Formats: sequence, C-alpha cells, structure tokens
Amino acid sequence: MCRMFVRRVRHGGDVWDKPDGLIDFSANTNPLGPPRSLLEALKSSLDFVTRYPDPEHRRLREALSEANGLRFDEILVGCGSTELIYLAAQVVWRLRGSGFRVLIAEPTFGEYEVAAARFMGRPSYVFPRRDDLRFEVDDIIKGIPRNGLVFLCNPNNPTAQSFNARGVEEVVSESCRLNSVVVVDESFVEFTADPEGNSVLKQVEGYDNLIVLRSPAKLFAVPGLRVGYGAASIRIAHLIRSLKQPWSVGVMGEVGLLAALADTEYIRSSTLYVRREREVFAERLAGLHGLRVYPSDANFLLVSTRGVGVGGRSLKRRLVSRGVLIRECSDFRGLDNHHIRLAVRRGEENDYLVKVLGEVLGV
Ligand SMILES: Cc1ncc(COP(=O)(O)O)c(C=O)c1O
Repeated sequence: MCRMFVRRVRHGGDVWDKPDGLIDFSANTNPLGPPRSLLEALKSSLDFVTRYPDPEHRRLREALSEANGLRFDEILVGCGSTELIYLAAQVVWRLRGSGFRVLIAEPTFGEYEVAAARFMGRPSYVFPRRDDLRFEVDDIIKGIPRNGLVFLCNPNNPTAQSFNARGVEEVVSESCRLNSVVVVDESFVEFTADPEGNSVLKQVEGYDNLIVLRSPAKLFAVPGLRVGYGAASIRIAHLIRSLKQPWSVGVMGEVGLLAALADTEYIRSSTLYVRREREVFAERLAGLHGLRVYPSDANFLLVSTRGVGVGGRSLKRRLVSRGVLIRECSDFRGLDNHHIRLAVRRGEENDYLVKVLGEVLGV
C-alpha cells in the first residue's frame, strides 16, 4: 500500500528561527564564503531578473561541457542537486512503474529516501559493518537491485569518507549490468585530496545508466542560490530534462555559477585551506577526552560523543547558548543520538568550538 504523505527530512543550516550571529557548523559549505567573482557577477547582472531564464541553460551547459570534456547533451542543470535527485527517482518510476527497488548506503543524505518514496520506490539499505563506518563495496554490490535505482554519495554525508574510484566504478558497472540507474552524488568531492581521481563525472559516456551530481552550494557556499549540476548518459539526460520544470533555475543561479566555475584560483586555494583546517580541527577535537572523530575526506567531521556520555540533542541545545550551531545526527538511519556532525570552518571558529565544547563537556 502506498503512503499518501512522504516524511520530510531535517537538514543542517536551519538557522532562520535561531538567534542572529550563530557560528553555523551544521551546514557543510565552504567556510571562506562565496568567491568574490560570483558575488560581483550577481551584482552586475541584477537587470537580468526582468528576463525569464534560458530553460535550456545553454551558456552554463556549454561551459560545463567544455570544462569537463563532456557532450552538451550530457550536462544537467537543476534547482540545486536536490532537484536532480528527485528527477532521477522520477525517471526510474517512469521507466519501471511503482514499486521499483532502491538501494541506499546508509547513513546518508536523507533526500534519497524521500525522493524514492515520492515516486513509489521501495528502499532497501546497506550499512557499514566496520567500526570506523567505512562501507565495504562488496556489501553494496550484493544489494544492487535489478531494474531499480542505486544512490551512492561520494564522499558520503554524514560519515565523511570516500569510496575509491575503483570501488565506485564497480558499483556503477554492476548497476548497469543489472539495468539499474545509479546516482553518484559528488556534492563534496572537491574537498577530497584527489577530486579528479575520486570522480566518475567524466565517465557518463561509458555507462548507459549513470547520473553524477555536483552541488555548487557546498563548494561555493551558495545554498541560497539554488543551482546544481551534473551529467548523465545521453539517454538518461534526455529523460531528466523532459521531466524537469522549465525555469527551476533562475538567472542569478546561472550567472553566479558561470563566474564561480571560471574562478579556478578560488577553487584551488579554498579547498586546500579546508583540507588543512580539517586535519587541525580533527586533531584538536580528538584531544578532548572521550570524543571520537571519524576519518574524513570531506569538509565536515562526524564525531561520536558516546565516550563523554552526552547526547547530540542536549549538546546542540547547550552549544546554541554559546553561539554555535551543530548538526546532531539522531535522525540519520544507522546513527544515534551520540553522533554529531561538524562543518570545517575557519581556523579561529574551529578553535572556538573546541574551546566551548571542552567547557560544556567538562573535559
Ligand atoms: C550529499 C548531498 N547531496 C545533495 C545535497 C543538496 O545540495 P543542493 O543544495 O545542491 O541541492 C546535500 C545537502 O546537504 C547533500 O548533503
């Protein structure tokens, strides 16, 4: 029986009902803020709001196809990568009808499950067996359905760890062999040590059922702009575009992303900054007795508070009164109230969090 209403997911970055001036560790965006080039492009394009956006996003798709050596028709643009997640589920529903099987490697981004449920997919889950929460690729491969949908997040939110490119390719090729569509969500891949090597974006030509997603919200710190992109095999890309609303990405999203993608210096220097700060932050947090920091390839850290005996919800409440917002992870499948997720922010902000955490926990 299908449920009429699909549950909503909670997310980090929920600051609108919170006091102004909180340091937000709950949203995983670039701590250096948007590139100046992007903000300048937005300012000088204000007049464009009098126009409808180009429903084909030609300028942006041309730039993305050139930058990635992909065909124009393989490029997808959406209202954040979230719109493309929902469109992927919708495509599979149109192809297979209600009740198609969906594999989700949990704990992960909650919108995969909601998108699947919205379009009558039936999820099954694979969980990490290892104590460090790293997934075994073989476990994922064993769970791949026939004629269904697979979501893989690389690096994964909230566990922060990457699959190596070979592992991802094994999942992709087995999914394609079983005629399942596979979504590889690379929203955080630019923060890994080897973004090119960890990505399968350029491989959409070789796989008929592959969709790869990217989220400028994270890399360029513009979640409010609502623009995402990706690539898919020509067949799937055509289907996705045929189901997409015409103007879901506004002119500012297109103009801003065009400018930011050209700003290679910002991309290089800010991701380097995040990788360095991540190591320092992780080490200082691990120095607080009882906290366990999981290995991270992304711009955020998953931390277990079990050893200090304080739950994430209570910690979150206590930290808000100290000017800090964190993501407690009790609503992630496979995690519990003893997990929190912390974005890597600027050095001085990370230091402040370590200090107040130490005070609040008394360690
Ligand atoms: C793994 C993952 N994918 C996609 C998104 C959504 O990104 P966007 O703002 O581009 O829709 C998020 C947001 O948190 C995420 O964590």
